[in-house]
Amino acid sequence: MIVSIAECRQYLNQEVTIRGWLVHKRSSGQVRFLIIRDGSGILQAILLKNKAQAEVFQSFDLLTQESSLVVTGILHADSRAPGGVELELSRLDLFQLTKDYPISPKEHGIGFLMEHRHLWLRSARQQAILWIRHELIRAIHDFLDGHHFIQLDAPLLTPAACEGTSTLFSTSYFDQGSAYLSQSGQLYMEAGAMAFGRVYCFGPTFRAEKSKTRRHLTEFWMVEPEIAFADLEELISWAEKLISFMIERVLAKRRPELQLLERDIAFLEKINPPFPRLSYSQAIDLLAQKGVSLPFGDDLGGDEETLIASQFDQPLVIHRYPSVCKAFYMKRDPEDSRLVLNMDILAPEGYGEIIGGSAREEDLEQLQERIKEHNLSEEDLRWYLDLRRFGTVPHGGFGLGLERVVAWVCGLKHVREAIPFPRTLYRLYP
Ligand code: 4AD
Ligand code: MG
Repeated sequence: MIVSIAECRQYLNQEVTIRGWLVHKRSSGQVRFLIIRDGSGILQAILLKNKAQAEVFQSFDLLTQESSLVVTGILHADSRAPGGVELELSRLDLFQLTKDYPISPKEHGIGFLMEHRHLWLRSARQQAILWIRHELIRAIHDFLDGHHFIQLDAPLLTPAACEGTSTLFSTSYFDQGSAYLSQSGQLYMEAGAMAFGRVYCFGPTFRAEKSKTRRHLTEFWMVEPEIAFADLEELISWAEKLISFMIERVLAKRRPELQLLERDIAFLEKINPPFPRLSYSQAIDLLAQKGVSLPFGDDLGGDEETLIASQFDQPLVIHRYPSVCKAFYMKRDPEDSRLVLNMDILAPEGYGEIIGGSAREEDLEQLQERIKEHNLSEEDLRWYLDLRRFGTVPHGGFGLGLERVVAWVCGLKHVREAIPFPRTLYRLYP
């Protein structure tokens, strides 16, 4: 019977066939060990000199790292083996004897590994990261579905900017001029919220950002819930619940992966809303106390975020930024018109902004003014203005950057390992 390694525990003392690749091999006296992976897990297979057929036993000597193979044998419980089971091998068939596999167990530089990303994905560490990414994605869908949000995906080819015109990738679009790769599905989600109440999109977004920090990708995945009738307070509460749900899920289902990554999970176990909050002004004061002066009106940069967040062991909500450093659609604070009703959430331990969101300007005239101030085209946004003409209501939403969260949960220094095939300023291959 063909089974996957993840299922092996259910087949103790039975003969099974496993299909996979050789991770490595070693010998000890009369015993030969093969470590095999099939993507679902790692299995130790053993060959015993006095039990295996001679030609099967000898084929061990030929085997090389990443050779593709099929093995058959009886499964035994063995607490010393990874996963607690071991296969006593009786038959071995090769698909291909791999020659000169470029990634050896020795250390390689990050440039080399990124250049071989298509092969690097086979390593245990990368697999642990991507299983955790998978679990986080599942948790997001489960959480939102459980609260009656409908997934309503936004187009990726768009006629206009959402998050500022300086970071747009453009492409020509037949006889209609330029199209832009979406920076955010938010504007479409606002239309969705007026139709369905609670909506979200979850897909790739694009930023032609010339920043080469450890937090920036040019293509990254974002989940964007948008909620009719929600005010800033309600948005913060949704964001807190979503983050806690995601962390709990990973702690419940991906402990082995976190362990393999040597992640100190005490930090994750502490996460518990409500999260601490600072207004932008309080954040500036805190920076000043730490000897960093930031003029009112400047956005917080990565270094400032790291410094502020390091004062807390929970995600930190920073709210009410100056309107001058934020997007056109954000609603002004009725109590101080220099500010907008927005919130960013910074991950603890220096992983930076994981969520950005706001209440949206729902008044037609106010919004038209903002569009002018930001030099955007009212013509391109006429459908968006319609939402303020036909039954406008207070509403808002936020975007959570998946790779930033994966990097935080896994304890990765750089977001480039948090996505299967990263796209950055200097990387479009493979
Ligand atoms: O703060 P941002 O730009 O917000 C928006 O796009 C809103 N329209 C979202 C909304 O309200 N629906 O991006 C949201 C999040 C950031 O907090 C960050 O986690 C992530 O997306 N992000 C990036 N992640 C990786 N690489 C980049 N270049 C990123 N830019 C933003
Ligand atoms: Mg932001």
